[in-house]
Amino acid sequence: MKKAIISKISEYNEQNVIVDGWTYNSRRSGKIGFLSLRDGFGIIQCIVEKQKIGDELFESFKRLHQESSISVIGKVVENSRAIGGYEILVEDFTIHQLTENYPITPKEHGTDFLMNHRHLWLRSKKQHSILKIRHQIVKAIRDFFDNNDFTLVDTPIFTPNAAEGTSTLFETNYFDSKAYLCQTGQLYGEASAMAFGRHYNFGPCFRAEKSKTRRHLTEFWMVEPEIAYADINDNMEWAERLIAYIVKQVLDNRMNELNVLGRDIDKIKNIMTPFPRVSYTECIEILNKSGNEIKWGEDFGSPEETYIANQFDKPVIVYGFPSEIKAFYMKRDPNNEKVVLGMDILAPEGYGEIIGGSEREVNINTLLDRIKEEKLNKSDYEWFLDLRRYGSVPHSGFGMGLERVVAWICGISHIRETIPFARTMNRINP
Ligand code: 4AD
Ligand code: MG
Repeated sequence: MKKAIISKISEYNEQNVIVDGWTYNSRRSGKIGFLSLRDGFGIIQCIVEKQKIGDELFESFKRLHQESSISVIGKVVENSRAIGGYEILVEDFTIHQLTENYPITPKEHGTDFLMNHRHLWLRSKKQHSILKIRHQIVKAIRDFFDNNDFTLVDTPIFTPNAAEGTSTLFETNYFDSKAYLCQTGQLYGEASAMAFGRHYNFGPCFRAEKSKTRRHLTEFWMVEPEIAYADINDNMEWAERLIAYIVKQVLDNRMNELNVLGRDIDKIKNIMTPFPRVSYTECIEILNKSGNEIKWGEDFGSPEETYIANQFDKPVIVYGFPSEIKAFYMKRDPNNEKVVLGMDILAPEGYGEIIGGSEREVNINTLLDRIKEEKLNKSDYEWFLDLRRYGSVPHSGFGMGLERVVAWICGISHIRETIPFARTMNRINP
């Protein structure tokens, strides 16, 4: 007999199959039992009739509780009223383990309890849907870059460089010296862009974020393209095309999961290029008009980002930030030295900054000044400065935070549910 997975069950209509899984739910009404079977690919209703399977097996059925592991044998039949349109008429089943008192029940649990049981919580419908969408987004990102002639070049996690400022570094012993966990792969990406033209890296990044917000993790995933012979406008176009592609792929492939999450599809179905572009200076004016007293030169916090994003129904590209609040590698605007050719993309609905990027500084003296200003150790950046000595060209890139994109597309309020095992200021377990 054939083993089937629930997502492909329609291919087995009117056939007998084996499905390996776990009890999602079971109930009885007299001599008929209803078993919701979960196999990781989907959930299907199984009908267990005492008359058909015999007294002994029916008694075993009664002992199945939430998350008991079983293999079910039965016939697949169409039933328009069942979820998924099919059900299984059970003929036999094997119990692998009977489970009692599974900690996560259909009743409400507090978030702390659920996060402490994250290793089990992953089995629940909502978490399962979020991680399926995360998977789809990862695939869309990779397909987008692969289809556009980018080369995936992996960047190291141990590094001597503090590319994104010294306040969020995780420092670790490295034999007789010290190293940091990477905050970004960008500096290595710039080396790679000079070798491959179009580069991307995609992996975990680490920041000792001392803030407990809904948007910050200490370990998060970032995808970072870096493009030779590209200016800030090219960079914005790549970024908006990437986001539009991701949203379309999720809508085309993960509608069931979005529905499980109760996502308002109207809010994401029109995410098409071009995205609106506003300068930092225009944002300050918009904010001041609204009564917010932020001054030119100050960085946006989450209330400012949300207010700006709420003026638009698509992600918005903010450019022209003051150089003081941005990283050392961002190119100064030749027309106005006070600002950099950097851009952030803010997601709609208050999800905040999902992309940060810039055209890169290519003037070696400006870079040296900035390295000094930031009190960085020049010798750690010699290799990076070589990129400005040998065949330097205008180039640009950006980083997109995977978890923030997942949170926005799923409509999940807290970023901790968008990564399998979240690491935050006060959590490293499980
Ligand atoms: O804006 P950031 O700091 O940019 C960089 O690291 C650049 N080196 C990227 C580049 O140009 N190659 O971070 C990029 C994105 C943010 O927009 C945000 O989406 C995400 O990474 N991010 C975080 N996500 C979750 N938790 C955190 N603590 C994050 N910090 C940044
Ligand atoms: Mg940023």
